[in-house]
Amino acid sequence: MSIDTTTSGNGQPLQSLDEWEDFVKGRYSEPGKTAEECQQSRKPTVGHDPEKKQSEFRNYEADARPTVREFYRLNHTNQTHEFAMAKRRQFLGLDRMKMGVWEAAEYLNQLVDDSDPDTDMSQLEHLLQTAEQLRRDGKPRWMILTGFVHDLGKILCLWGEPQWAVVGDTFPTGCAYSRKIVFPDFFAANPDSRDARLQTRNGVYEEGCGLDKVALSWGHDEYIYHVCKDYLPIEGLYMLRYHSFYPWHRENEYDHLCNDDDRRLLSAVRDFNPYDLYTKSHTKPDAVALRPFYEDLIREFFPEKIRW
Ligand SMILES: [Fe+2]
Ligand SMILES: [Fe+2]
Repeated sequence: MSIDTTTSGNGQPLQSLDEWEDFVKGRYSEPGKTAEECQQSRKPTVGHDPEKKQSEFRNYEADARPTVREFYRLNHTNQTHEFAMAKRRQFLGLDRMKMGVWEAAEYLNQLVDDSDPDTDMSQLEHLLQTAEQLRRDGKPRWMILTGFVHDLGKILCLWGEPQWAVVGDTFPTGCAYSRKIVFPDFFAANPDSRDARLQTRNGVYEEGCGLDKVALSWGHDEYIYHVCKDYLPIEGLYMLRYHSFYPWHRENEYDHLCNDDDRRLLSAVRDFNPYDLYTKSHTKPDAVALRPFYEDLIREFFPEKIRW
């Protein structure tokens, strides 16, 4: 299927969720740097033609695929503060089903999209690859497990939620949008842009109130955080809840909404990010061989069934 055929406004512009992740990985091509710093370091220093304008260097926003651009347009247009609150009410009662963590990973693995099966990872493979890299680097067992569960919130897609309400770089709703959020101009179409009360620096929040009180745009991060809240250490829970909050952990924005706990735990979110973003390799992990290790690890932290 050609890329252009999917931009017809069906609300699911991406051929696969990987398209969003690949875009983020390109935009943040260097660990720990802001999007602008990454763009600067893509500028060639040897043989650099001084006549070449800045715009001729690869700019991930300008060069984004139409599918990715349309995805962000829908995300920024529809993720209002009221939407973010309504989705919390809809999903955070965790009354849909009870299932174990490995079972949830297999359930998520039904999510098959139009990606190329020969080169792209399945959802389970991405989780195993992230976790296995943490394991190879000698990280603590709770962190390996955090890697294994971090994207299980994408099961929201299986319950009919559109892509723009499951993935995407998250941002605070109910207060001014940072210009460092990817494609900031798309916020002009968000109804909250026309509500002056929601466009001040703090909006509906108080300065330094702490991120726990801030409704980020709705997606798989917030959902999996609530599913795992009683079972993992606070560092792991921050990794789950904020792994897509690039405006905070990469762009250093929204510090004025943070409290001291958030500032202390930001380093945990940053430690985790490279494992999510940069571990995609073409060697597929062997799920059958790895299953006993992960079943043991899951049993160490989670009961047999948890609420979803
Ligand atoms: Fe994710
Ligand atoms: Fe991920």
